[in-house]
Order: sequence, then C-alpha cells, then structure tokens
Amino acid sequence: MVDKEDREINRSAQDVINYLSVILRTAKIHDPGNVAVLTAIERFLSLLEQIMGVEESITLELIGEFFYIEGVRVRYSLEYLINFDFFIRELKKKEIGKIVFRKGVKPGDIQMLLSAFIAAAFAETPFETILTRMSDVESIDVDILKKIKEDDQDTRKIIKKVYYNAVSFSKGVMTKIKAGEKVNMKKAKRIVESMVDHILEEENLLLGMTAIKDYDEYTYHHSVNVSILSIALGQRLGLNKKMLTEIGLVALFHDIGKIEIPNEVLNKSTNFTNDEWNLIKRHPVWGIRAILKLKGLDYTSIRSSIVAFEHHLNYNLSGYPKVVKYPELDFYSRLVSIVDQYDAMTSSRVYSRIPSAPDKALSIMMERAGSQLDPLLFKFFINMVGVFPIGTLVMLDSKELGLVYESDVVFADRPKVLIIIDSSGKCVSGPVVNLTEKDDKGKYYRSILKTLDPNKYKINLAEYLL
Ligand SMILES: [Fe+2]
Ligand SMILES: [Fe+2]
Repeated sequence: MVDKEDREINRSAQDVINYLSVILRTAKIHDPGNVAVLTAIERFLSLLEQIMGVEESITLELIGEFFYIEGVRVRYSLEYLINFDFFIRELKKKEIGKIVFRKGVKPGDIQMLLSAFIAAAFAETPFETILTRMSDVESIDVDILKKIKEDDQDTRKIIKKVYYNAVSFSKGVMTKIKAGEKVNMKKAKRIVESMVDHILEEENLLLGMTAIKDYDEYTYHHSVNVSILSIALGQRLGLNKKMLTEIGLVALFHDIGKIEIPNEVLNKSTNFTNDEWNLIKRHPVWGIRAILKLKGLDYTSIRSSIVAFEHHLNYNLSGYPKVVKYPELDFYSRLVSIVDQYDAMTSSRVYSRIPSAPDKALSIMMERAGSQLDPLLFKFFINMVGVFPIGTLVMLDSKELGLVYESDVVFADRPKVLIIIDSSGKCVSGPVVNLTEKDDKGKYYRSILKTLDPNKYKINLAEYLL
C-alpha cells in the first residue's frame, strides 16, 4: 500500500513541475495574461492544492540536476524529460534554487512569477530582478541557487585554513624562540610552499585574507600578511617557485627581532615614549641574532637576516638602524619593505595609530616611491593591489555601497564589488557585481564614485570577506 501511495505522491510532484514548465514556456511565447496561460495556471493551482493538503506551504528545490519537493527527490519518466530539462535550465539561468508556494496562492501571483522570469531574462542580475519583483507577492518565495554559493564557500574554507595555519605557526615560532626552544624549519617551509601554491592557483583569495585587519594578535597576522603579499608581488615579477618560497620565508621572519620587545610595549594602545621608540627601532638588529640562532647558517637564513636588518632602512638608506657607507639594499629587502609598510599602514593596533584606508595608504606610499621605496617595485605593487585594493569601501553611482572583492587585472578601476548596502540604504550581503559590465548601449551599469573609510562606518571586513 505504502508503495502505491509513494508512487502517487511522486506522480503529483512530477506533474507540478511539469505544469510549471509548460506554463512558463507558454507564457514566454504568448504573455502571462494569455487565455492559454490562464487555463494552465488554473490547472496547476488545483494540482498544487491537492498535494499541499493540510500543509501551509510546499517547497520546490533544485539541487544539482534534480528536483526535490518537500525534501523528497522527484523522479520523472522519459515523456517529461524535455519539460523538466527546460525548467532546470530556466532556473539555473535565473539562479533560482528554491520556490516556496504558500496556501492561498492566486492565479495573479503565478502571473507575477511568470513576468518576473521573463523580465529577468534580460537582467544583469537575474535572481535579484526576480526577488525584487516578487517582494510584494506574499504567497510565493524564491531563494538563490545553493550550488554556486557552496562551491565558492568550499574554496574559501580551504584558504581560510591555510591562512590561520600560517598565523598560528608564526605565533608558535615566536613563543618557542622566546622560551629558547627549537623551531621546526621544515614546517615553516611547508606552510610557505602551500601559500605559494594557492597564490599561483588563485591569487585573489589569499590576498583577500590580508585585507582583514580586525585582529588582536597583530604581529603574527602581520608576518603572514607580509609573507603572502611578498609572494604575490614576486609572482608578478615573474620569479620562479623556488624564489617565491624563499621570499615567502624571509618575509615571514622579517619582524622576528620583535620577540625581544616586551609585550606591554608592543601591544600598547597609547603613544610610545621616546625610550620605547628607541627600543622598537632595535628590532632589525635583534632580528639577525634571532634568525641565526634559529636556523644556523644556510643560504635562506643569511638572506632572512639581511632582510630583517634592512627592512626599515629605506631605499635611500634614510631609515633605521643608521648606517654609514652601506651598499644598496638587497632585492628582497626592497620588496619586503614595500609590502611591510602597506600592511602596517592599513592595520589597526600597530604603533597605536589609526589605520589608513587602503587607497589612502597607497597614495602616501606613492609620495615615498623613488626616495624611501624602490619606484619600479612600487609600480608592480600598485598594479597588483589595484587602484582599489581588496577590502576598499566604495560608493557606487547606483547609490549602493560595496567592498572591493576581487580586482580586475585589465581594468584596474573596475573591480568586482560585494554590495553591502543597497540603493535603499538596507544592509545586504551581496550580490557581487562586476563593474566592467555594460548595458546594450555600451554604458556601464555601475561605476565607483569615491572611496570611503571603513573605520568611520564601523564596517567589520572579516564579516564579509571570510
Ligand atoms: Fe619591522
Ligand atoms: Fe613589519
């Protein structure tokens, strides 16, 4: 008996989807107000009422290539194949993964759904178009296709793990050295190698992690950020994988001399006294000692200690420690110091200053290019982080606020932007819009009007970028 009942339920479920497909096809040929469409809608609604029974609503979901009604997969026979296939493609094109019909749904509501579908065919963001058009229809809810979100989420999860793994390693290293314990350098190399791999594969994701400056343990995050940004910059310069790993390692240890500075001084929230400043200025020298103690003498350790010593010296040797008759800076030092300044300037809690917005930091650094910073390397750096670095808060001409999510290599001024406040002033989380997209007249849909300071707006980047 149960089997027969199951089959019947499946039959009705199959018919519901089949009818929806037929209605949509008819509506696309004629229009939603057409008699043929109306008749089909009436039939669909009576079917819907039947299977809804005493329930308040019925949920239709598309997962992968299959339909589910109330969580049960709907099997279908061959005769329905074309209609099912048509409807699957329609939903995918419109990025719809779920439709909920509630009790009391009227023919007019279905007509609204049909016109929303038709309007969305020409829209830049089909799902949003349908969502807006359906916002007044209480008896029907639509939700975005899950699959797209999940794929993206998975990669993000992996990247997040790689990043936090590196942060906890860098914390471990500092704690161990302080305690006079041995540090596993093989592990350091493995961690940097995996960061190199991820940057070569999908540069933007790991770079995006460095935009999140909302943390308590600044020094550890900073070391990892400088390592990631150095690898990415090295990649832009065309360095090979071996060199990228090396540069990632030397960058990771550039501030290791800070282990000699007491935590009370390092994490102070007020301005430093002169004495404290003098203490901090010694970390490049202490760095040499820490690295050589750590690793013994090999090529990378020598290169690391050079970078630790030189990273505040500046391109024109105007920085600290004071040197006389010094040769020009090591290539790695020139590279790391650019990245180091950028990350320090855009981070909070460092040297008790207010963090600068990314574009502000870049414009300050622009003035230093040629004197304190290597001008050519800086050009490559600007090119990499983009005119609008990941995490920049921007106001669009569409009256929306968004965060730069991914920079575009060719169109530096037209990145991908995650909308966080819509044109009506409501807080939202997405969509991600591509500013290079134009309408059929060749006009851009959206452009950046200006950048804003995320700190002023109390926006937590981690919330959006993680
Ligand atoms: Fe430093
Ligand atoms: Fe640093």
